[in-house]
Amino acid sequence: MSTTSSVSKKSDTPRKKMTVPNFTARKGGDEPLVCLTAYTAHVAHLVDAEADMILVGDSLGMVIHGMPNTLGVTMEHMIMHGQAVMRGANKALVVVDMPFGSFEESPEVAFRNASRIIKETGCTAIKLEGGREMAPTIRHLAARGIPVMAHVGLMPQQMNTAGGFKAVRDEDVWEDVIADAKAVEEAGAFSVVVEGVAEKLADKVTKNVNIPTIGIGASAKCDGQILVFEDMIGLFPRVPTFVKRYGNMEDMMVDAISRYAGEVRDRSFPAEEHTYKAKKS
Ligand code: KIV
Repeated sequence: MSTTSSVSKKSDTPRKKMTVPNFTARKGGDEPLVCLTAYTAHVAHLVDAEADMILVGDSLGMVIHGMPNTLGVTMEHMIMHGQAVMRGANKALVVVDMPFGSFEESPEVAFRNASRIIKETGCTAIKLEGGREMAPTIRHLAARGIPVMAHVGLMPQQMNTAGGFKAVRDEDVWEDVIADAKAVEEAGAFSVVVEGVAEKLADKVTKNVNIPTIGIGASAKCDGQILVFEDMIGLFPRVPTFVKRYGNMEDMMVDAISRYAGEVRDRSFPAEEHTYKAKKS
């Protein structure tokens, strides 16, 4: 597998701190929005060099905390990782996911939790899963100073009702997804993640809304793309087919761990150069 790419690296556009209006203004632009997840300060620092947006996704429950899905993620998880990412990010727009159970009950509960995320992390925006049923909540938050990124199509927090992580391919439900995207836009979302949908549906959603669509498993017919960082660098074993691996960090780490263990066992580490010498006072 090749880990190099022939495509251009850094964008030619000089980068200023990304704001919500500037992000939304990229709708339909020539240059797709580059988005990645990050959960830690150093990864955020590395991703920040290229990304327009960093998402502190609730996928951290699976990727970092070994959970089977995202349902067990708490406000405390999101705030702790949000704070870490904010220490590493500089230019990218940082968006923090609202975990399952923190926003569905009422717009008021959603405001309390979203404002806590913004106060305690310093991030700019929150993301929440849901379409038409979440429109009143999105309207409530957006009208009170909380920028909302919506998330439609495959919604991992609804895996129990959907019977798993199911991509939306069946044409019978396409109109529902389009209606969801239009509803979140109308309610005031500044952008919408479109996850796990057929290419033609992604195209229709993108053409039907005036806010940027950010695709994950949703083809190139979106205004931007996002992947989970660990999936993209080859550090998470189970990945969906839509993930392209740009590195193989797992192999590099396994190799480093095994060489370290071997050198500790045969006493070749620590060597002279890793050892402090006594100093006379
Ligand atoms: O939690 C997550 O990482 C997401 C995706 C859009 C990447 O919601």
